[in-house]
Amino acid sequence: MLAKVTSCAVVGLDAALIEVEVDKGRGLPSITIVGLPDAAVQESRERVRAAIRNTGLAFPDSRLTINLAPADLRKEGPAYDLPIALAILLASEQIFADLDGAIVMGELSLDGGVRHVSGVLPMAVMAREQGFQTLFVPADDAAEASLIDGLDVYPVPNLLALVDHVTGHSRLAPFQRDFLPGDPDDLPPHTADLAEVRGQEHVKRALEVAAAGSHNLMMTGPPGSGKTLLARSMPSILPQLTIDEALDITRVYSVADALPADEPLIHHRPFRAPHHTISYAGLIGGGRWPKPGEISLAHRGVLFLDELPEFGTRMLEMLRQPLEDKVVSISRSAGSLTYPANFTLIAAMNPCPCGYFGDPEKECTCSMTMVSRYQKRISGPLLDRIDIHVEVPRVDYEKLSSDRLGEPSKTVRARVEAARERQRVRFEGTPLSCNDDMGPAEIRQFCQVDEAGQSLLKAAMQQMHLSARAYHRVLKLGRTIADLAGSEGIQTAHIAEAIQYRPRRMV
Ligand SMILES: Nc1ncnc2c1ncn2[C@@H]1O[C@H](COP(=O)(O)OP(=O)(O)OP(=O)(O)O)[C@@H](O)[C@H]1O
Ligand SMILES: [Mg+2]
Repeated sequence: MLAKVTSCAVVGLDAALIEVEVDKGRGLPSITIVGLPDAAVQESRERVRAAIRNTGLAFPDSRLTINLAPADLRKEGPAYDLPIALAILLASEQIFADLDGAIVMGELSLDGGVRHVSGVLPMAVMAREQGFQTLFVPADDAAEASLIDGLDVYPVPNLLALVDHVTGHSRLAPFQRDFLPGDPDDLPPHTADLAEVRGQEHVKRALEVAAAGSHNLMMTGPPGSGKTLLARSMPSILPQLTIDEALDITRVYSVADALPADEPLIHHRPFRAPHHTISYAGLIGGGRWPKPGEISLAHRGVLFLDELPEFGTRMLEMLRQPLEDKVVSISRSAGSLTYPANFTLIAAMNPCPCGYFGDPEKECTCSMTMVSRYQKRISGPLLDRIDIHVEVPRVDYEKLSSDRLGEPSKTVRARVEAARERQRVRFEGTPLSCNDDMGPAEIRQFCQVDEAGQSLLKAAMQQMHLSARAYHRVLKLGRTIADLAGSEGIQTAHIAEAIQYRPRRMV
């Protein structure tokens, strides 16, 4: 007797259909799994056997062949336990059920309980695209699957509940989704309010521009001047997510198995701040069981790299490609995977090893060679990809001790939202969502500069030896500054501000 149950595999950020076929044949009792299974799938035999027995059903004493088709796709992880168990029960004619149009996934525990699996959101997306109607998922993952409209999502607590449901003994209730849009004032812990930061008005302005158009930003300054504090205030001024952006981010978190248990949909723009001891796979993505790295977890949010030179030249060079393409490709023995990585890079560093190079009062104790070597850890091509460079000098006593609070983050966020709204209208019907996403064609269309602005740009190109990339980046930045000012055209003042954010080597 042959039985078939449909399930899914995650490939990169997408899902593929998997047919689980079980054949019960004659011969000595044995179980063979074929179809490129990895070790976790092989171990499925033991879990399925125990789960079926402990559920009070009989595990067939015959020769079982389990095929996971298509055979050329590598099957990883324990998500096939539940479809395999169901197919075995069908093949051994213990149950009879029609599973047309249904997809089953879940890991089994030995007592028959169904455990969480990762990547349920991309599976649900694929199920809808392929015309499936019903999804049986672990109870913990039902909220995530229900983010996709038009599917009946059944939360399965254990194998017995699924058997009772498909045989019609006792039906499971479909999952009713209920989630509220994220509250913009509900911020991650350790988020500072801009009002708490004294002085540094030009840095706050730069953060506002960066948030409004998703431009990369670098802060340089002596120890204790507030760089980390300022970067940590970034989540308080980031614009709210649209539902499409939220789904886009949630897909990455679902595959990375990084969704918080109580939050099926990511409501806030990510703010990722990995430590500089992170591994390549941790930052870029990959690993034995490939997972998105920090640059993908920061998709449509912020990647904050504090003490930038400490990350090491090799690690930083690897950021060049994703910073340009906004996706990252990871090569594997079986083809390559692509994850999205459209993040805003916020970086902070000291100007030299002692930290005081260029400080008007405290003397720097480093030799010129040391300063130069330190700064060269950040290569020219990487600097060229960072649009906004600001110096963060030490704040003086008067400013620090004054009781006057600065502008609160809420007010700044309102301006950022208004600028994003202009961008949303501009890019309606295109896959772009903010100014930094523009390519050369869009730059030509949307970044027209007045005549005075053009001659300023020409002079800057010649004097500062700007690259073609820098030229385009200045135009995009000018567009954002104009959007913040509520201006339709890009004016000279906007271009001037954009140019003064370009990097200058200090030595
Ligand atoms: N402009 C400021 N306004 C208010 N507090 C400040 C300011 N700058 C620094 N501080 C105080 O100093 C502390 C240290 O600042 P922060 O960690 O941001 O410095 P940093 O520039 O990142 O230094 P480092 O280069 O050593 O990492 C802050 O937690 C805060 O208490
Ligand atoms: Mg710091």
